Amino acid sequence: MQKTFHITTFGCQMNEHDSEIMAGLLTKAGFTRVEEIQQADIEIMNTCSVRENADKRFFGTLGQLKHRKKAEPGFTVCVCGCMMQQQSVIDTLKAKYPWVDLVFGTHNIHRLPQLLSRVIEERTRLIEILPDMEEIVEGLPAMRLYRHKALVNIMYGCNNFCTYCIVPYTRGREKSRTPEAILAEIRALVEDGVKEVMLLGQNVNSYRGLSADGSCTDFAGLIRRLNEVEGLERIRFMTSHPKDLSDDLIDCFVNCEKLCKNIHLPVQAGSDRVLKRMNRHYTRERYLELVRKLRQAVPEITISTDIICGFPGETEEDFQETLSLVREVEYDSAFTFLYSIRHGTPAERYEDQIPEEVKHDRFNRLVDLVNEISERKNLAYRGHIERVLVESVSKTDQSTLAGRTDGFKLVNFPGTDELIGKTVPVEIVEAKTFSLLGRLARE
Ligand code: 5AD
Ligand code: SF4
Repeated sequence: MQKTFHITTFGCQMNEHDSEIMAGLLTKAGFTRVEEIQQADIEIMNTCSVRENADKRFFGTLGQLKHRKKAEPGFTVCVCGCMMQQQSVIDTLKAKYPWVDLVFGTHNIHRLPQLLSRVIEERTRLIEILPDMEEIVEGLPAMRLYRHKALVNIMYGCNNFCTYCIVPYTRGREKSRTPEAILAEIRALVEDGVKEVMLLGQNVNSYRGLSADGSCTDFAGLIRRLNEVEGLERIRFMTSHPKDLSDDLIDCFVNCEKLCKNIHLPVQAGSDRVLKRMNRHYTRERYLELVRKLRQAVPEITISTDIICGFPGETEEDFQETLSLVREVEYDSAFTFLYSIRHGTPAERYEDQIPEEVKHDRFNRLVDLVNEISERKNLAYRGHIERVLVESVSKTDQSTLAGRTDGFKLVNFPGTDELIGKTVPVEIVEAKTFSLLGRLARE
């Protein structure tokens, strides 16, 4: 009988894409995906170690599976993702959750079908963690979440070692795919109906793709090649480290018509002192200069960011500099994070950790400011006609469609599902903090 599986994904788009690949691999191997965990013979939990309290939430959710595992020994529990690359997590799993069937990491997801077959056939338990990716495995099938847009990894890992961040330890060193492999994947996706690709990497600006003929393609070069792909309508990317954002890439925003006029440019903090302790390798002024250049080149570009509140040693003055930078840039949106310790990172050892209530107070003030600006920026779209790539029918209302503008603004408007996958003009009639409301306009 065919076994069914369910995947629970925590964290970022990179994890989301890993889950799409795992689903693709398992489907190809004869397993069937189901939407509800209750119907699944196999549960896979793809974990994240960046989000706050990630371990608590993961172990909490995992603990809930114990009863079912006891009642149904054939129910198979697998855990994977960033958290598994931390030895402390593996130690806890061995000591407190010995009933978990399969544990694997971020560097061997391509081995999931073999590992799972062994677990099921030999009724054994397995832990397989590799310290880093030996080489990039190409040609893995992915079961996409959306029919018309796709996530595409262009590189793996990170070399930056920001002092708060666990990613360089869980995802290993930077490795770029070849431009040929990326182009081949995207051409196949377009054949399959994909209109928009989101290029993924921890720092896409340091992409260096080596071709068989010995030539090297940088990120701007890759964008230029992808801009030529017939049938592809939109190119996006994330994430971009400010220290490596080149003039050449800014030029792509002007000259590559498929590159969406939107950039996620994490600033993390507005004070030079904090930026230095975070090991970010840019100053506030250099960051603001980049924003000026981007806006000079493309006045309508939308900009989003990540900001951490309460990094060790952050004073009220430092925090005021973050607020003033946010006011100066006027972000379209911002992901705000409360600093929290990641085990094994340099900032864990900083002695001047900030009290929780101070962090929360700053966080609340920052969120208020960010939301006020987002809403103001969104209101300016009222009366505009935007081209929206329709993604789906709204989950809460079958007569409403959801899609994105070129600038990545979420737009809801009345319409029917035959518009999914099409790019249509929508007049913006109302604006909220996190989305726009519109109505279909004439071509
Ligand atoms: N504490 C708080 N936020 C963090 N981030 C990464 N590590 C931490 C941490 N230890 C945030 C950064 C990053 C985003 C993905 O997560 O802002 O850009
Ligand atoms: Fe983490 Fe910094 Fe690398 Fe981003 S660039 S993944 S924040 S170490």
